[in-house]
Amino acid sequence: MSPTPSFDSVEHTISSLAEVGYLADRRLATTVYLQTRLEKPVLLEGPAGVGKTELARALAETTGRRMVRLQCYEGQDESRALYEWDYGKQMLYTQMLREKIGEIVGSSTDIAGAVEEIGAHEDVFFSERFLSTRPLLEAIRSETPVVLLVDEIDRSDEALEAVLLEILAEGQISIPELGTFIAQHPPYVVLTSNNTRELSSALKRRCLHLFLDYPDAERELEIIRSKSTGLGDALTEHLVQVVRGLRELDLRKPPSISEAVDWARTLTVLGIAELGTEELESTLSVVLKYDKDLARAREQLDELVKGESPASAGAALAGTARPADRDGREVRSAKDEPGRHGPGTYGERSQPGDGGHPAPPRVSAGQGERSFTSKFRRRGNE
Ligand SMILES: Nc1ncnc2c1ncn2[C@@H]1O[C@H](COP(=O)(O)OP(=O)(O)OP(=O)(O)O)[C@@H](O)[C@H]1O
Ligand SMILES: [Mg+2]
Repeated sequence: MSPTPSFDSVEHTISSLAEVGYLADRRLATTVYLQTRLEKPVLLEGPAGVGKTELARALAETTGRRMVRLQCYEGQDESRALYEWDYGKQMLYTQMLREKIGEIVGSSTDIAGAVEEIGAHEDVFFSERFLSTRPLLEAIRSETPVVLLVDEIDRSDEALEAVLLEILAEGQISIPELGTFIAQHPPYVVLTSNNTRELSSALKRRCLHLFLDYPDAERELEIIRSKSTGLGDALTEHLVQVVRGLRELDLRKPPSISEAVDWARTLTVLGIAELGTEELESTLSVVLKYDKDLARAREQLDELVKGESPASAGAALAGTARPADRDGREVRSAKDEPGRHGPGTYGERSQPGDGGHPAPPRVSAGQGERSFTSKFRRRGNE
């Protein structure tokens, strides 16, 4: 039986997510509710730290599904996202079987004949035994229902978007050598994007699309309170006001919800009871990560503390503070703080000689056209 408790209503979605610590507004909860009912992927776009990734985690937790995560990065290819053939294992087996292989080709008198003999057995080496699954295939093949998080899709190349289309539209993956795998339980798919590049309309069309912005003051207050920061109510309220003021400045990296939470914890640890200009100045670096941003905020300390709308040279809308002329590269590099994700998150391959395995070669597209595939066809490909 599926462990997925379908949400009964939008209200039920809100309360279920809240139970696992995620405070969703009605618009977001409606999207999630529809996702579970229509079995459509959700595409969340929005600035850093507004709870895009966290939503997938909360959805997994509240529905009792395992979360499978594909963290996207520039230059990521199918072999890191879908599957690849385990070249090292194929070689190992070939080595161990060399006597047997010798027997098979022994009767041939020329190379062409030997190749034919071996070719008759090559399907053995392109069977599931030698298949290394990556997150997308893992989600489709999972025997239990999963939440598939495709995180930061805007970092990947457009080619990967194309790969995703089949999965999003059909809930299936075709492997030429093996056939088509169809998900037993359609995954709940959550895609996130920081909007550093425009995603294809084909991808958007297949998704329920939602722009997730900074929450309103009331919700942000609620979120920070829910994190048990230890900060008193009045001071938390003031902090939210200051954070919102900072977002109105033309900053390279406006403070996110998580930074506001960190800031609240910092004030607690320092035993600060009131947020004056001095306290603000001494702790600003918790929420602002760039010298220029710090300098810009220091010019407005009084206004920020008083909750007056700071003079925002060129700042766009209150609460969003994303200058329209900023190109994706700049936004992306602003997010690229070392250690933001754990080692290996971006799929770095180990180098030969560094104790890891040598990078396996890619399987050529031609391998997909071999004639033995029909034997292994799965349902849906017959
Ligand atoms: N609605 C919410 N309810 C509870 N916590 C939230 C909510 N939104 C954000 N948070 C908090 O903010 C933190 C940052 O959220 P998250 O990592 O999901 O941001 P993001 O939008 O994925 O950012 P990025 O684009 O940098 O990856 C979370 O760890 C969580 O603590
Ligand atoms: Mg994220």
